[in-house]
Amino acid sequence: MKLFDVYSLLDMEPVKASGAYLWDKDGVEYLDFYGGHAVISIGHTHPHYVAKITEQLSKIGFYSNAVINSLQAELAEKLGVLSGYEEYELFLCNSGAEANENALKLASFTTGRERVLSMRGAFHGRTSLAVTVTDNPKIQAPVNKNDKISFVALNDVEALERELSTKEYAAVIIEPIQGVNGIQVATNEFLQAARMACDATGTLLICDEVQAGYGRSGRFFSHQYSGVKADIITMAKGIANGFPVGAVMISPSIPAVKGMLGTTFGGSHLACAAAIAVADVVKAEGLVDNARLMGEKIVEGIKGVGGVRDIRGRGLMIGIDLSVPQADFRKVLREEFHIMTGLSGQYTLRLLPPLMIGDKEVERFVEAFRATAVKFGM
Ligand SMILES: Cc1ncc(COP(=O)(O)O)c(C=O)c1O
Repeated sequence: MKLFDVYSLLDMEPVKASGAYLWDKDGVEYLDFYGGHAVISIGHTHPHYVAKITEQLSKIGFYSNAVINSLQAELAEKLGVLSGYEEYELFLCNSGAEANENALKLASFTTGRERVLSMRGAFHGRTSLAVTVTDNPKIQAPVNKNDKISFVALNDVEALERELSTKEYAAVIIEPIQGVNGIQVATNEFLQAARMACDATGTLLICDEVQAGYGRSGRFFSHQYSGVKADIITMAKGIANGFPVGAVMISPSIPAVKGMLGTTFGGSHLACAAAIAVADVVKAEGLVDNARLMGEKIVEGIKGVGGVRDIRGRGLMIGIDLSVPQADFRKVLREEFHIMTGLSGQYTLRLLPPLMIGDKEVERFVEAFRATAVKFGM
């Protein structure tokens, strides 16, 4: 059997990894400024992570959500403390799309309403409801057609207020930093206005922190820069450093009803052990503050380079608009300087390194970035 050919693959196969570094099968070392698409938060193969998972697997890896699993409560406790959302409640699932799917269903169950307001340029995943609030018709199948979803431009306060005041919405869903749309940051004013408009109309505010969350922005959640509290927050990617975990944090004002949400695999012993290990390391190593600091150093290092048209983002979620094709620039970074990076939107080079990078990695990246810019005559 061959693989279903849906991915455009880079000509590179990592077979080993440690911290912020990868090695391919020929032993060539790469600096990882892509983090497996924002997933690697504490660095590859962190010893505490490996030990916790291995130890858990040797005891019990999985049973079912039909029995007590106190690791879930331990994880909820740790996430509450790390995020400052201690009074919220946690539902565990397996991916970012699934977290959003559950968040949207929950908002609809709770409010009894059918409509959802999303943002232009949004990406919320590929499952049936998550894809309808994603602003990309190319990944929506005919069966996903849904006239209950509307879109407004990110940061257009007037449009958002108009929509919410004229129709009944169950939820507004916002990525506080849009990941696939060129790293567009929701302004504090926009998030604050969304909060007020939601309160005035009985609409629930969902923040999709699947990519920007878990410390990547330099705050635990990127919407926390605005001082706003969301009713529902979704997470995935960085939460378990590559073990598939999705999570929904839910305001205590939203009642849990037995059987309303559920999953077979979500919150397994192994998944919880992985996520607990990540939470331990994020706290012990101060990775949220490190993300903010290292992000500032990267921006400082590339600011003013000719051909850099704009730099957006927060912490270690950085988009750099270039005057030359982003994919060509990225290719040189990878092939000549052995640095992995990502792309976003049409013009943007996307940086999503592990949150544990230090000065050495920042300096190597900045030097390579500047040398690549010279090669392109930028
Ligand atoms: C903001 C955001 N939401 C949701 C998703 C979907 O997550 P997953 O691929 O784990 O389903 C992604 C994935 O890139 C994302 O960036």
